Amino acid sequence: MERLCLFSEKSVDIGSDSNADNYIMAIESSCDETACSIVKNGREVIANIVASQIKTHEKFGGVIPEIAAREHMDAINIVVQEAFEQSNLKPEQISAFAGTVGPGLVGCLLVGLNAAKTLALVHDKPFIGVNHLNAHLCANYIDTDIKPPYMALLVSGGHTQIIDVESYSKQTILGETIDDAVGEAYDKVARLIGLPYPGGPKLDKLAQDGNPNSYELPISKVEGYNFSFSGLKTAVLRLVKSLKQQNNSDELTEKQIKDVCASFQECVSKTLAKKLKKALIERGYKQVVIAGGVAANSEIRKKIFEFEKDGYKVNAPAMKYCTDNAAMVASCAYFNTNTFDDVDVEVFSRVH
Ligand code: KG4
Ligand code: ZN
Repeated sequence: MERLCLFSEKSVDIGSDSNADNYIMAIESSCDETACSIVKNGREVIANIVASQIKTHEKFGGVIPEIAAREHMDAINIVVQEAFEQSNLKPEQISAFAGTVGPGLVGCLLVGLNAAKTLALVHDKPFIGVNHLNAHLCANYIDTDIKPPYMALLVSGGHTQIIDVESYSKQTILGETIDDAVGEAYDKVARLIGLPYPGGPKLDKLAQDGNPNSYELPISKVEGYNFSFSGLKTAVLRLVKSLKQQNNSDELTEKQIKDVCASFQECVSKTLAKKLKKALIERGYKQVVIAGGVAANSEIRKKIFEFEKDGYKVNAPAMKYCTDNAAMVASCAYFNTNTFDDVDVEVFSRVH
């Protein structure tokens, strides 16, 4: 696809139909990671820098938007400089600069997006604005030769969607959560059993040592491809309360914690795998990918990779490309033409 340099209006051919090699530098700052990457032709990561704010937000048990935005401001120039150093490329060699437009925390997005726009303006290159959710899906193109069509399960801190990806740019959301996102449910359940932020990965680790059949938890009965996780979260809350009563204590035993985690994880992963399989069968697809921070989850990965036994081709990004990163943003700028290329584009917090 032809894209224009911001000042000279020189045209640059970018994307899978381009004959020349493309090096896209992307910036991601939608939540609590300040990230900058350079990706060659959408699949080969030349530089990948991520500055995480977990240490800061740990103290508060969650992301504080204003503090996150300030930390992005401290980190942004450093991650850009480090990405250039790691790649050994000069700004002139970059084909285009990309940045996440939304959804995300507005103050945080502004920092990264303005940096990407500024780089494009200063170096007279095209600017490509990217949707964060589309970017998560594109993490599956990194280091692979995967091409649409495929069915995708996108599971992150803010979203839970089953997406029919017909082509690089044509995607249809078949279903999504009607209340909590999976990552949100993980973080809330983790908090109520006393695990520090971010609870998802810690809960996953404990679950691996627990018995998934210890406690029966309700599987939501939402129609079609939609999901609901708030009832499950309330059921875990009740279970934890009754266990504490049984113990005559304000604490759970180590075994109880592991078993609660394993039972919760079993219930979530079963629900996700079941609906994803249904979508695959109904659409007749043979290829399936998972994406988003929760795609790093051991049991969800395991249950979906089991589809391979039934002849499906399954892919999940490497762990570092599941959680927020800029390589997926660069890949998305390359492959997906549904981008926001106007340098005046404004950040947005959620999809309407
Ligand atoms: O995609 P992501 O980095 O940020 C958003 O766009 O939301 O996802 C972050 C979410 C958090 O809720 C985190 O707890 C969850 O992903 N997460 C996990 C695991 N690793 C990250 N949840 C369950 N198991 C994991 N291993
Ligand atoms: Zn994300």
